[in-house]
Amino acid sequence: MTMWTHSRSSGQRGAEGDRTGGASGDAMTDATGTDAHVQADTRDPVSWFEPGVAVPPIPLRRNGVAAVASADDAGETQSRPGEEDAPSPDGESGAHAVAGTEAEPERTLDVQPPNTTGLDGEALRESLALVEDHLDAVGVDFYAQLFTIAPESRELFGAGMAVQRSRLVGALVSIVGSADDRDTLVPYLEGLGRDHRKFGVIDQHYAPVGTALVLAIRRALGDQWTPRFESAWIEAYDRIAAIMVGAARRDAVISPPWWDAEVVYHRRILDDLAIMQVRPHTDYPYRPGQYTYLTTPRRPKIWRAYSMASAPRDDGLLEFHVRTVGAGWVSSALVWRTEPGDILHLGAPQGHDVATPRSEHDLLCITGGTGIAPVLATLQELEQRQDGRRVHVFYAGRDRDHLYALPHLESIGVRYRRLTVVPVVSPDGPTDRSPDLMGNIVSAYGDWRKHRVYVAGPTTMVATSLERLREQGVPDEQIVVDDYGLW
Ligand SMILES: Cc1cc2nc3c(=O)[nH]c(=O)nc-3n(C[C@H](O)[C@H](O)[C@H](O)COP(=O)(O)OP(=O)(O)OC[C@H]3O[C@@H](n4cnc5c(N)ncnc54)[C@H](O)[C@@H]3O)c2cc1C
Ligand code: HEM
Repeated sequence: MTMWTHSRSSGQRGAEGDRTGGASGDAMTDATGTDAHVQADTRDPVSWFEPGVAVPPIPLRRNGVAAVASADDAGETQSRPGEEDAPSPDGESGAHAVAGTEAEPERTLDVQPPNTTGLDGEALRESLALVEDHLDAVGVDFYAQLFTIAPESRELFGAGMAVQRSRLVGALVSIVGSADDRDTLVPYLEGLGRDHRKFGVIDQHYAPVGTALVLAIRRALGDQWTPRFESAWIEAYDRIAAIMVGAARRDAVISPPWWDAEVVYHRRILDDLAIMQVRPHTDYPYRPGQYTYLTTPRRPKIWRAYSMASAPRDDGLLEFHVRTVGAGWVSSALVWRTEPGDILHLGAPQGHDVATPRSEHDLLCITGGTGIAPVLATLQELEQRQDGRRVHVFYAGRDRDHLYALPHLESIGVRYRRLTVVPVVSPDGPTDRSPDLMGNIVSAYGDWRKHRVYVAGPTTMVATSLERLREQGVPDEQIVVDDYGLW
């Protein structure tokens, strides 16, 4: 059965689908209904490091002996997971096969999953663990290095770098976490490579980024840096860049780097919430439940995710519901300073096809704030095709006013009789952000073990809802999540 879960880090293009190729009748597919998995071309001989800016030599240890002179280190450098220690096809590690019957009994139980990438994941993880408490500082140093080595790359980024830094660090942690697992790593990097087209990233940008990355990690490690770490990171970045660039090149054949879309309608329905409609200049195919990263000319080059609030329409218009997050960069510009005529850039659609016609399961939607937007899109489509499945929507807001979509839900409910909407506001008023409220209500309301579940909204609501659903025994495979962030 397909994993129907979703991490909000940059992922696959199109709705996530059953990539196992299984015959499950309700598997999710991508937006085009295809299930193709393109293998990355990792044979590209190009090195993705800046030719003119070599990574400087390894610093000497305190005693003046280069790190490589240590016998232990030299041994480590030669012993790579995936080589000597890789399990043989029958599940025994290579070391055990050599040791034969003399292997210690407990070691035979210690079967590691096979390394399917050939990267030195152990060294990558070990080095990252050494700087885990100051990863943000690594991010700061990385960008400082990058903008020194390649000042022209600064133009690709917007003004606020804090969110970007945390995304980069998050991506590094994910990459290193799955460095031994090709089936996880390659699709993730392919998605990231395709996504980078909309930022204006081209092949030539990869070399200085590799140099800056290795320099920043090396500087953070200081004299804990070893030759093995150096070769592990250089090789890993070469492969990462080759996969990202390969996916971007293939994507360039079939779709634009971004879509221009004109704002044709903008209305602030609450002080902090606006509804807007945009008209993409060219066809923008997507599925209800999906979202796009977009940027506005009022905050150039800063991209944020927003869910489509309408099902695909004949007139091509897309609707978005945006709530300001404090003085957040993009949301405040979209709510307070956007007008008809503004041209937004939209990235390719991402996320889940929540209204997939291939599912016969009833649907449970748990939403908070603008998390209702993708659910409205889903309901519109289910209504249009008179789908017939039962849908429960739990809809939380800080107060009754913030349940702005209730009239719309009520009118859909008149036509789609299988819809049940449960509005949720705290009895203690808008300042009560008790995260347990939604989770408790959902679990008290019924048994959801046979439902498909879609959760969208603020992090705390998402986390407690997931906790309760798991306590109830709803399998992870039946749950998809769009975590909108902390607020
Ligand atoms: C898949 C997905 C779909 C999304 N869909 C929608 C949608 O349809 N509609 C929508 O409105 N949003 C949606 N979001 C959230 C959206 O992407 C942005 O994160 C949000 O608009 C904030 O962006 P910003 O640039 O305004 O804020 P940023 O400048 O990024 O600042 C936000 C950061 O500051 C913190 N912060 C700022 N102000 C406050 C505050 N007052 N209280 C607490 N923390 C604060 C936040 O924790 C966050 O880290 C979605 C997010 C995801 C991941
Ligand atoms: C190891 C290679 C790389 C990794 C892991 C990486 C990671 C990321 C991640 C996770 C994001 C956030 C995107 C999202 O959430 O969809 C991002 C955005 C971005 N990346 Fe990269 N990236 C890499 C290479 C590059 C290169 C070579 C460039 C070109 C200089 C680049 C420029 C950008 C820009 C401009 C953004 C958007 C910033 C913003 O929204 O403010 N990245 N990157």
